[in-house]
Amino acid sequence: MKINVGIVGCGVVGTGLVELLLKNGETIRKRTGVELTLSKVADKDWQRPRAFEVPHHLRTTDYREVIESSHIVVELIGGKEFAKKLIEEALQRNRHVVTANKHLLAEEGREIFLKAQERGLCLGFEASVGGGIPIIKAVRESLVGNHIKTVYGILNGTTNYILTRMLKEGVKFERALEEAQERGYAEADPSLDIDGWDSAHKIAILSFLAFGGFFPFHGVYVEGIRHVDLLDVELGKELGYTLKLLAIAKRREEELEVRVHPTFLPEEDPLAKVSDVFNAILVEGDFVGKTMFYGRGAGAHPTASAVVSDIVDIAGRIAYPLPCKRRIDWEDKSYRLSDNFYSRYYLRFDVPDRPGVLASISRVLADHHISIASVLQKEKVCKLAGREGEPIVPLVILTHKAYERSMRSALEKIKGLPVVTGEPVLIRVEEEAE
Ligand SMILES: NC(=O)c1ccc[n+]([C@@H]2O[C@H](COP(=O)([O-])OP(=O)(O)OC[C@H]3O[C@@H](n4cnc5c(N)ncnc54)[C@H](OP(=O)(O)O)[C@@H]3O)[C@@H](O)[C@H]2O)c1
Repeated sequence: MKINVGIVGCGVVGTGLVELLLKNGETIRKRTGVELTLSKVADKDWQRPRAFEVPHHLRTTDYREVIESSHIVVELIGGKEFAKKLIEEALQRNRHVVTANKHLLAEEGREIFLKAQERGLCLGFEASVGGGIPIIKAVRESLVGNHIKTVYGILNGTTNYILTRMLKEGVKFERALEEAQERGYAEADPSLDIDGWDSAHKIAILSFLAFGGFFPFHGVYVEGIRHVDLLDVELGKELGYTLKLLAIAKRREEELEVRVHPTFLPEEDPLAKVSDVFNAILVEGDFVGKTMFYGRGAGAHPTASAVVSDIVDIAGRIAYPLPCKRRIDWEDKSYRLSDNFYSRYYLRFDVPDRPGVLASISRVLADHHISIASVLQKEKVCKLAGREGEPIVPLVILTHKAYERSMRSALEKIKGLPVVTGEPVLIRVEEEAE
């Protein structure tokens, strides 16, 4: 059976998808029995050179031509407003939809998912998380027999590249970002990546799926790597920890913790070993235990590979009728998001190297029921401060698990101590041991 596939947005991923469908279409037909025919490809600008030449007869600038000519409409324009309008129009016209648009799904997914579900149409979004890694299919299908407890991982290649350069080569953040841009791993405006939003969009989508319900995206705690100081990356390394931008989702009864922030992991943790632009996601289910998925999280070819898996899945359902609502993914459950995380902490204070300093800080921590696991004081002088130009050194404290609110309140008190100069540094530590 012939299934018409149309694409709106022929940029990085769209071009990769055209290439894959034209080069591997015959293999897909042999393997699945469905013939995928590219009906139309829409983009605003056909003058721009592309990595793969799109045949002239497929090109259009009118997305409506794509909707009219296709069984499956693939949205690859990105952004929110127009992409939403396009997807809604396609669903209205009874077209199945595939999208890689994490931004839209994380922030307005509930409405779109439920609309597709109501109309009995499929909405594929494998490529929205983890690029070429088949994580959506794994959570949705392979792990369906489990209650998922936690999902966490490295979901952004750009930031992982930058942190890898800082850790391995001692490069400062600004230089590592420039290198990422020179290699095409970071956009000219890198803020969605480095400020953590891209990871936040992806962990929100994974949480919706893993926990079978929705929450407002603005409740996700997001902290990026823009302010990461090389000194902390290096001090962490001395203590046996590797810094990663981690996206974390944990379920506790009807409450979720969904957060993105720089996180220290023990260097022997499998996620700590994930370097450069690679992504990895760990999923823990009540029966399966821990499973880990690893691969390229972006790029034209890996992402096109993920888009095609959705297209083939949907085409198979059209060809050999199977309802799209084979399993209810969305129970339309509402979750409360907690901001009182329970974590270990790495704290760094800039203090004068004199007796009594540690005692005054540890007293405040004790008053907030936060217990210290270890202390590292370096002789390395950060700066000279005070009227006498007293040498200031970094004092690092690793705590046992504590509640975020207690920690924040303790830090406010510590900041007010006369011995502490500048802003304390707080980095969360994820560790199995406790
Ligand atoms: N790149 C990756 O590795 C990757 C990985 C995973 C997911 N994704 C997601 O995949 C989607 C596409 O990403 P991309 O990197 O391929 O983006 P891209 O290179 O910017 O491509 C988007 C294309 O759509 C065109 N476009 C925008 N509005 C349009 C409209 N109204 N009608 C027709 N064409 C329109 C754009 O043209 P103009 O440039 O002229 O606006 C551009 O050619 C995004 O949602 C992204 O988050 C990307």
